[in-house]
Amino acid sequence: MSDIKIVFWSGTGNTQAMAEAVANGVKAAGQTPNMLQFSDITADALAADDRFALGCPAMGAEQLEEGEVEPFFTELEGKLGGKKVALFGSYGWGSGEWMDSWVDRVTSAGATVVTGAGVMANNAPDDAAISECEELGRSLVNA
Ligand SMILES: Cc1cc2nc3c(=O)[nH]c(=O)nc-3n(C[C@H](O)[C@H](O)[C@H](O)COP(=O)(O)O)c2cc1C
Repeated sequence: MSDIKIVFWSGTGNTQAMAEAVANGVKAAGQTPNMLQFSDITADALAADDRFALGCPAMGAEQLEEGEVEPFFTELEGKLGGKKVALFGSYGWGSGEWMDSWVDRVTSAGATVVTGAGVMANNAPDDAAISECEELGRSLVNA
Protein backbone atom coordinates (compact mmCIF):
# COMPACT_ATOMS: atom_id res chain seq x y z
CA MET A 1 0.00 0.00 0.00
CA SER A 2 1.25 3.53 -0.67
CA ASP A 3 1.32 6.23 1.99
CA ILE A 4 -1.83 7.31 3.82
CA LYS A 5 -2.61 10.96 3.16
CA ILE A 6 -3.85 13.19 5.97
CA VAL A 7 -5.00 16.43 4.34
CA PHE A 8 -5.88 19.26 6.71
CA TRP A 9 -6.43 22.99 7.14
CA SER A 10 -5.70 24.69 10.46
CA GLY A 11 -5.74 28.41 11.20
CA THR A 12 -4.44 28.32 14.77
CA GLY A 13 -2.92 24.85 15.11
CA ASN A 14 -5.66 22.86 16.85
CA THR A 15 -6.64 20.76 13.83
CA GLN A 16 -2.96 20.42 12.99
CA ALA A 17 -2.33 18.85 16.42
CA MET A 18 -5.16 16.42 15.64
CA ALA A 19 -3.61 15.64 12.23
CA GLU A 20 -0.31 14.80 13.93
CA ALA A 21 -2.11 12.37 16.25
CA VAL A 22 -3.91 10.74 13.29
CA ALA A 23 -0.48 10.38 11.64
CA ASN A 24 0.85 8.66 14.77
CA GLY A 25 -2.05 6.21 14.65
CA VAL A 26 -1.34 5.44 10.99
CA LYS A 27 2.31 4.80 11.91
CA ALA A 28 1.30 2.60 14.85
CA ALA A 29 -0.76 0.50 12.42
CA GLY A 30 2.33 -0.03 10.26
CA GLN A 31 1.68 2.43 7.41
CA THR A 32 3.44 5.62 6.34
CA PRO A 33 1.47 8.82 7.00
CA ASN A 34 1.76 11.78 4.62
CA MET A 35 0.54 15.04 6.15
CA LEU A 36 -0.52 17.62 3.56
CA GLN A 37 -2.29 20.97 3.52
CA PHE A 38 -5.27 21.28 1.16
CA SER A 39 -3.16 23.70 -0.90
CA ASP A 40 -0.50 20.98 -1.41
CA ILE A 41 -2.64 18.56 -3.43
CA THR A 42 -5.45 18.51 -6.01
CA ALA A 43 -8.76 16.71 -5.58
CA ASP A 44 -7.89 14.57 -8.61
CA ALA A 45 -4.58 13.44 -7.10
CA LEU A 46 -6.19 12.61 -3.75
CA ALA A 47 -8.98 10.68 -5.49
CA ALA A 48 -6.38 8.20 -6.76
CA ASP A 49 -6.21 6.77 -3.21
CA ASP A 50 -8.81 4.40 -1.77
CA ARG A 51 -8.56 5.82 1.76
CA PHE A 52 -7.42 9.08 3.37
CA ALA A 53 -8.10 11.45 6.27
CA LEU A 54 -9.46 15.00 5.98
CA GLY A 55 -9.27 17.60 8.75
CA CYS A 56 -10.94 21.01 9.00
CA PRO A 57 -12.18 23.10 11.94
CA ALA A 58 -15.67 24.59 12.21
CA MET A 59 -15.50 27.92 10.37
CA GLY A 60 -17.97 30.49 9.03
CA ALA A 61 -21.27 29.56 10.64
CA GLU A 62 -20.79 25.80 11.11
CA GLN A 63 -19.10 25.47 7.74
CA LEU A 64 -15.90 24.15 6.23
CA GLU A 65 -13.20 26.78 5.76
CA GLU A 66 -14.39 28.55 2.60
CA GLY A 67 -11.15 29.69 0.92
CA GLU A 68 -9.47 26.32 0.37
CA VAL A 69 -11.37 23.47 1.98
CA GLU A 70 -14.90 24.05 0.66
CA PRO A 71 -13.80 24.40 -3.01
CA PHE A 72 -11.50 21.38 -2.68
CA PHE A 73 -14.16 19.24 -1.04
CA THR A 74 -16.83 20.30 -3.57
CA GLU A 75 -14.54 19.04 -6.33
CA LEU A 76 -13.70 15.83 -4.43
CA GLU A 77 -17.35 15.02 -3.65
CA GLY A 78 -18.03 13.59 -7.11
CA LYS A 79 -15.01 11.29 -6.86
CA LEU A 80 -15.66 9.79 -3.42
CA GLY A 81 -17.64 6.67 -4.37
CA GLY A 82 -16.28 3.57 -2.60
CA LYS A 83 -13.59 5.43 -0.63
CA LYS A 84 -12.85 5.15 3.08
CA VAL A 85 -12.61 8.61 4.60
CA ALA A 86 -11.58 9.60 8.14
CA LEU A 87 -12.81 13.05 9.23
CA PHE A 88 -11.56 15.20 12.10
CA GLY A 89 -11.48 18.82 13.23
CA SER A 90 -11.56 21.29 16.07
CA TYR A 91 -14.42 23.60 17.03
CA GLY A 92 -14.99 26.48 19.43
CA TRP A 93 -18.48 27.27 20.65
CA GLY A 94 -20.83 25.20 18.51
CA SER A 95 -22.29 21.72 18.91
CA GLY A 96 -20.52 20.01 16.03
CA GLU A 97 -23.05 20.81 13.33
CA TRP A 98 -20.30 21.39 10.75
CA MET A 99 -19.01 17.85 11.33
CA ASP A 100 -22.51 16.32 11.07
CA SER A 101 -22.94 18.05 7.69
CA TRP A 102 -19.50 16.89 6.56
CA VAL A 103 -20.22 13.28 7.54
CA ASP A 104 -23.56 13.49 5.66
CA ARG A 105 -21.88 14.86 2.54
CA VAL A 106 -19.21 12.13 2.54
CA THR A 107 -21.84 9.43 3.08
CA SER A 108 -24.16 10.85 0.38
CA ALA A 109 -21.21 10.80 -2.03
CA GLY A 110 -21.00 7.02 -1.62
CA ALA A 111 -17.98 6.83 0.69
CA THR A 112 -17.65 5.16 4.08
CA VAL A 113 -16.86 7.42 7.04
CA VAL A 114 -14.24 5.52 9.08
CA THR A 115 -15.64 4.62 12.56
CA GLY A 116 -18.97 6.09 11.43
CA ALA A 117 -18.35 9.57 12.85
CA GLY A 118 -15.87 12.42 12.66
CA VAL A 119 -13.50 13.01 15.58
CA MET A 120 -13.99 16.46 17.13
CA ALA A 121 -11.91 18.38 19.68
CA ASN A 122 -13.09 21.44 21.56
CA ASN A 123 -10.35 24.01 20.80
CA ALA A 124 -6.91 22.45 21.51
CA PRO A 125 -7.26 18.65 21.63
CA ASP A 126 -6.97 17.23 25.16
CA ASP A 127 -5.46 13.82 25.91
CA ALA A 128 -8.77 12.05 25.21
CA ALA A 129 -9.15 13.75 21.83
CA ILE A 130 -5.52 12.94 20.94
CA SER A 131 -6.19 9.27 21.75
CA GLU A 132 -9.34 9.34 19.59
CA CYS A 133 -7.32 10.79 16.71
CA GLU A 134 -4.65 8.09 17.08
CA GLU A 135 -7.39 5.47 17.08
CA LEU A 136 -8.89 7.09 13.97
CA GLY A 137 -5.53 6.73 12.19
CA ARG A 138 -5.32 3.04 13.15
CA SER A 139 -8.91 2.45 12.05
CA LEU A 140 -8.26 4.15 8.70
CA VAL A 141 -5.42 1.72 7.98
CA ASN A 142 -7.52 -1.29 8.98
CA ALA A 143 -10.82 -0.19 7.43
C1 LIG B 1 -13.83 32.77 11.31
C2 LIG B 1 -14.10 31.72 12.34
C3 LIG B 1 -15.33 31.06 12.35
C4 LIG B 1 -15.61 30.08 13.28
N1 LIG B 1 -16.84 29.46 13.29
C5 LIG B 1 -17.11 28.51 14.22
C6 LIG B 1 -18.36 27.86 14.24
O1 LIG B 1 -19.24 28.10 13.40
N2 LIG B 1 -18.60 26.94 15.22
C7 LIG B 1 -17.66 26.61 16.17
O2 LIG B 1 -17.90 25.76 17.01
N3 LIG B 1 -16.44 27.22 16.16
C8 LIG B 1 -16.14 28.14 15.22
N4 LIG B 1 -14.91 28.75 15.21
C9 LIG B 1 -13.90 28.34 16.19
C10 LIG B 1 -12.87 27.40 15.60
O3 LIG B 1 -13.49 26.26 15.04
C11 LIG B 1 -11.90 26.97 16.70
O4 LIG B 1 -11.19 28.10 17.15
C12 LIG B 1 -10.93 25.89 16.25
O5 LIG B 1 -10.21 25.43 17.39
C13 LIG B 1 -9.94 26.40 15.21
O6 LIG B 1 -9.15 25.30 14.80
P1 LIG B 1 -7.70 25.52 14.18
O7 LIG B 1 -6.76 25.90 15.32
O8 LIG B 1 -7.33 24.21 13.58
O9 LIG B 1 -7.81 26.61 13.15
C14 LIG B 1 -14.63 29.72 14.26
C15 LIG B 1 -13.39 30.39 14.25
C16 LIG B 1 -13.13 31.37 13.30
C17 LIG B 1 -11.77 32.06 13.31
